[in-house]
Amino acid sequence: MDQIYSWIAASAFGLEGAIAGELRRLGMKDVRAENGLIRFRGTLLEGYACNLSLRFSDRVYLLMAEAENCLSFDSLFQLVATVPWENYLSGTEFIHLSAQCARSQLMSPRDCQAIAKKAILNRLRDKTGRSVFPETGAEFPVHVSIHENAVRVMLDTTGTSLSRRGYRTWNGEAPLRETLAAALVEFSPWRPGMPLYDPCCGTGTLLIEAALRQGHFAPGLQRSFAMEHFCFFDAEAGKAVKKQLLDACQPSRITGIAGSDINLEAVDLARRHLKLAGLKDCISLEVKPLQEVILQAKNGVFLCNPPYGERLGDLESCHQLYHDLRLLQERHPTWSLCAIVSDPAFEKCFGRRADKKRRLYNGRLECQFYTFMGRRIRA
Ligand SMILES: C[S@@+](CC[C@H](N)C(=O)[O-])C[C@H]1O[C@@H](n2cnc3c(N)ncnc32)[C@H](O)[C@@H]1O
Repeated sequence: MDQIYSWIAASAFGLEGAIAGELRRLGMKDVRAENGLIRFRGTLLEGYACNLSLRFSDRVYLLMAEAENCLSFDSLFQLVATVPWENYLSGTEFIHLSAQCARSQLMSPRDCQAIAKKAILNRLRDKTGRSVFPETGAEFPVHVSIHENAVRVMLDTTGTSLSRRGYRTWNGEAPLRETLAAALVEFSPWRPGMPLYDPCCGTGTLLIEAALRQGHFAPGLQRSFAMEHFCFFDAEAGKAVKKQLLDACQPSRITGIAGSDINLEAVDLARRHLKLAGLKDCISLEVKPLQEVILQAKNGVFLCNPPYGERLGDLESCHQLYHDLRLLQERHPTWSLCAIVSDPAFEKCFGRRADKKRRLYNGRLECQFYTFMGRRIRA
């Protein structure tokens, strides 16, 4: 279990720096961010702790092999066959191959999957002397990524994306991915201890992610990961890592987080998600239009994901709503306001230039994350 492995954490556009920061805080070695991924080194248990703890990454891979200039199926076969798969497989796993090809000589994911699987099975046959592998056991997900002829062969230790924390039962109309919501919390000026309010909270993703952070809840505590079923993973040691993270949770630290939405169903759903996240009494929610929100606290942060027009409501009413967000901040001059929006007219409708802007993607939609700083006063 003390062997050091090479790992890759997958990142959505714009979140690489934040994920690299998380990995460093978790004590990982040689953390290096590249486009769309972060490399690091650590033991198997440390990789497991990353699966449990990373807030912004979608997936954690073990890097099994890589090569710069892979131009033929033959080279791909040779590369995959260099991996000592016999050390990682007991012989019954369902070896599931996926592949992604971009701007490369090898551009057929389906063929790359087939070649890679053949190379794995050939190696297993050679090294174990067995000819039949029933594949009736747990999933062993291998991913082949080919980008500008550079190949990476990776073992997916996560399974279902890390954005699936386990608290979301139903998606509502336009929810944020949990990993993006957690990153917005990080990029906003809010820090635990300050008031936080989402005036169009929908199913509650931003509020829940902020509360998980404030209460020191590792986001993966309520779910399982592909690596828990790997034959070379020490499940008992994994349980101890999980227990340590469970013991670190401090729900009593969660204060000052609240939100509202005009839609009753969305608020009901948010309440359900709060319960499932173990945060039932930690966040207050109400059904209310943001035009009527008036708060007593000072020096807080409004954090929101208002409707964009493309997906919810029509553009004209969205533009009015963006102006209403400005009025909300004017009613609370000591509060900062942050919003993720795809509409380029947002600042114009809001009526003020943002103090900070950050380009991000909400799914496939290019967005800006705007921050309008409030005028903080001494408490
Ligand atoms: C993009 S969704 C927010 C999704 C949310 N971040 C989530 O993760 O579920 C926008 C939300 O704004 C709400 N909304 C629209 N007009 C509103 C208004 N005038 N006041 C408050 N909420 C409003 C909608 O009901 C919807 O839930």
